[in-house]
Amino acid sequence: MTFAERYGKYAVVAGASAGLGEAFARELAARGLHLVLLARRGDLLETLAAELRQACSIDVRTAAVDLGAPDLLAKLRAAVAGLEIGLVVYNAAHSLIGPFLSQSLDDKLRIVDVNCKGPLVFADEFGRAMAARGRGGLVFMASMAAAQGSPLVATYAASKAFDLVLAEGLWDELAGAGVDVLACRAGATRTPNYEASQPRGKVPLMEPAAVARRALDSLGKRPSVVPGFVNRLGDVFMTRLLSRRAAIRFMGKTTRRLYSR
Ligand SMILES: NC(=O)c1ccc[n+]([C@@H]2O[C@H](COP(=O)([O-])OP(=O)(O)OC[C@H]3O[C@@H](n4cnc5c(N)ncnc54)[C@H](OP(=O)(O)O)[C@@H]3O)[C@@H](O)[C@H]2O)c1
Repeated sequence: MTFAERYGKYAVVAGASAGLGEAFARELAARGLHLVLLARRGDLLETLAAELRQACSIDVRTAAVDLGAPDLLAKLRAAVAGLEIGLVVYNAAHSLIGPFLSQSLDDKLRIVDVNCKGPLVFADEFGRAMAARGRGGLVFMASMAAAQGSPLVATYAASKAFDLVLAEGLWDELAGAGVDVLACRAGATRTPNYEASQPRGKVPLMEPAAVARRALDSLGKRPSVVPGFVNRLGDVFMTRLLSRRAAIRFMGKTTRRLYSR
């Protein structure tokens, strides 16, 4: 089976207007899937959609949706009505960097809405339809930060641990129904959102297209993937060589170096 036969006809990319989500949309279009692109900035989605319709001869729908809003499920159902969704990439995230106690509770709860509740809604809605059809794929963007507590990004990292563990559980549970599930544990990636965070000092950065390609190539082969050789070495160091306590301290040193103002 080709990728499009296994995961077509349509793929939904949640958070597709920039960065990694845009890269997923481009890669899926190149693999011949029709697309439904979601994000808040509908103008950016429409520009990307026009380009992909023209370049790849596919159907591309767009909808301006706030994935953290209480009416998410209704908006989602309206956006995909009548379409056969064979693949979902839940890419969007809300991230906050800085001391936990300096962030408002509302802002932290928004992380839970966009990064945890959103993926759960998508898994429930599309997992059910895919299992009934006997085929499909769900990709969740986690992060290398999901592997341990991470000072200065504590809530964000905890939300990514939720995404990772949800995907791992569903990888096994839905396999019998023909649904492939993957968590992408990306490391630092050159996206507008990453660059806007203005880290001080250099870390090895991957390009979004390479991360998207590696994630899609891993779907159906394993429960999670860490794209990039250097990131995989870092993952072994953090999760196998260091104790959990030492890994948390190491993360704290890294995030303070990058983000203490
Ligand atoms: N970049 C990195 O270094 C890195 C590393 C590890 C993991 N990740 C993960 O990779 C994913 C993508 O990261 P990114 O750096 O490309 O940037 P991002 O800001 O996390 O995601 C950007 C996309 O998500 C959309 N989005 C954000 N909040 C939304 C909301 N409430 N409703 C609808 N759409 C929303 C944005 O569109 P609108 O603004 O138009 O809504 C944009 O299309 C995230 O899950 C992130 O946690 C990134």
